[in-house]
Amino acid sequence: MRILFLGDVVGRVGRQVVLDELPGLRAQWALDCVVVNGENAAGGFGITEAIYEEFLAAGADAVTLGNHAFDQREALVFIERAPRLVRPTNYPAGTPGRGAALVETQSGARVLVVNVMGRTFMDPMDDPFAAIDRELDAAPLGLVCDAAIVDFHAETTSEKQAFGHWCDGRASLVIGTHTHVPTADHRVLPGGTAYMTDVGMCGAYDGVIGMDKEEPLRRFTRKIGSSRFEPATGPGTLSGLAVETDANGRALKVAPVRLGGLLEPVAPSFW
Ligand SMILES: [Fe+2]
Ligand SMILES: [Fe+2]
Repeated sequence: MRILFLGDVVGRVGRQVVLDELPGLRAQWALDCVVVNGENAAGGFGITEAIYEEFLAAGADAVTLGNHAFDQREALVFIERAPRLVRPTNYPAGTPGRGAALVETQSGARVLVVNVMGRTFMDPMDDPFAAIDRELDAAPLGLVCDAAIVDFHAETTSEKQAFGHWCDGRASLVIGTHTHVPTADHRVLPGGTAYMTDVGMCGAYDGVIGMDKEEPLRRFTRKIGSSRFEPATGPGTLSGLAVETDANGRALKVAPVRLGGLLEPVAPSFW
């Protein structure tokens, strides 16, 4: 299978680069499955039903979230009628929505999509390692699903790397999100799981992790906030990871994708 994962979409600039580029990439690379992290899609904070529907129409098979999952209150309601919208699975019991989804792609493949949140320098959550065990055990790779995509939404590189190794051989892809800055460690782990500590964001990189730089600079230098965070403007970059898997859902090839905006462009050579 050919899988594309796109990192946190931040605000209007991020949405626009995804809507502009994804339909073409889906066709050009003959993608079987696309997953988009949409936790910052609505003005940098959360997601609305209209934006979720836009991502699906542009070619996403599933949309994952993170600590900003419910910043837009409407998500608490519409997530129940959005079967391809996945919030962190280790939220407290009773949280609306689902933490994992077995989605059927346009080509008929069954893909398990799981969203999990880390705990280091994050809000307290249930144990992500025990949580992913439950999800992966319920849908074994190659038996119940043709591919398993794990979006690990976490702050520290160490917790993310540990999580990749924990899942190695049981997931097709463990991708880090939340820090919005792409790392250079994409690779296939020994057990056949593709891994990247952070996939980066889809948004404007002339800011502070996708936000206009003025307010973050004020808060860092003066310790007094004076306005809201607003998404950065300027040219948008699409940031993602391309993964090719075998018939058993193990990763064969992995390459970063960065298109447009301020970052150096990269694309997989194997498609
Ligand atoms: Fe984010
Ligand atoms: Fe986040």
